[in-house]
Amino acid sequence: MQSIDTVQHLTAVQFNKLYFQENKPVIIKGGVKEAKSYNHWSLDYLKSKFANRPVRVFYSESGYYNFNVQGQMVPIQVSFEEATEYFTSNQYNNKSYYMQQVSIPDVFPELMDDLETPEWNLPSDLINVVNLWIGGAGCVTPLHYDFAQNFLIQIMGRKELTLFAPTDAPYLYPSEAGKVHLSQINLDAVDYAQFPLFRQAKPFRCSLEPGDVLFLPPGWWHHVRSLDAAISVNYWWNRFELIPGIGMEQYPVAVLTKEINRFLEAGLPIDHQDAEGEFLLINAIGKGYVNIVEAFLSLGANANLVSTHFRPGKTALEIATASGQHKMVSLLQQYGAKEKQPNASH
Ligand code: FUM
Ligand code: FE
Repeated sequence: MQSIDTVQHLTAVQFNKLYFQENKPVIIKGGVKEAKSYNHWSLDYLKSKFANRPVRVFYSESGYYNFNVQGQMVPIQVSFEEATEYFTSNQYNNKSYYMQQVSIPDVFPELMDDLETPEWNLPSDLINVVNLWIGGAGCVTPLHYDFAQNFLIQIMGRKELTLFAPTDAPYLYPSEAGKVHLSQINLDAVDYAQFPLFRQAKPFRCSLEPGDVLFLPPGWWHHVRSLDAAISVNYWWNRFELIPGIGMEQYPVAVLTKEINRFLEAGLPIDHQDAEGEFLLINAIGKGYVNIVEAFLSLGANANLVSTHFRPGKTALEIATASGQHKMVSLLQQYGAKEKQPNASH
């Protein structure tokens, strides 16, 4: 059985280099032990603040909360006070309840004051969604992957997870178009006759205890079971970065331009620097990603940038020339790169 890296401490720079850029999950044990959420939130605390707040709760006879299976989960609207009864009481045997994936800014905006952006995020990261997950013991979110970067933060109770790398997708039987991020396999009762290739998939198992943080890159499959009544928060976010391993270098320029534009619209500069201070354009030249360089230049990136980290002091053109990238050199020249920097400090 493969295992997920577990660390006690991780700086934002280490996180970027060892996990984010590698598309590799990691558990930061006790990563939020100082946080207000971890120290204050309990079902009683939340009930005292939100007793009458209407919330959307799913119930499921099987304990599976699967958007993929018609009728497997039914939404009900109840007060938060009533919902907390469902999460903890035996009276609701044979049915479990899950307040699954509820937007905190939309439904519990007051709780945003108790949350700090995860310390591994950069100020330039786009945080798309912050969700709250509260449910009883036994709730299962079946096998799926997400499209954004994910920090799953355990506040109360334990969760047990089975993960698979994105490269295992051919063995996990993604659902039809539009639902390709949802596996058809029930991990707790695999039908090998229907899904024979599943034998080739290589699971990673891990668990989260209160205070732990799991980083899950996009495309990593996960199946999540609550072992106790549990409270989690998750952040979906994106970083303006070149991510190896996801085939960005093969995306058409038009697709890249659209993706990069999302960050520009959020106010980030096109001459954006990564966690180590290097310009993304320089990183892309270093990696030989002509299409990414073209997307950056067509959106107004400066063709005369000077490297800060990869080849400190060298210009974009010098780096491309030294590595014999003729196509890259002519692309940079087409966008105004000069042989010598007129102003070396630029
Ligand atoms: O049930 C869960 O905690 C699921 C989390 C996730 O899918 O990210
Ligand atoms: Fe997920």
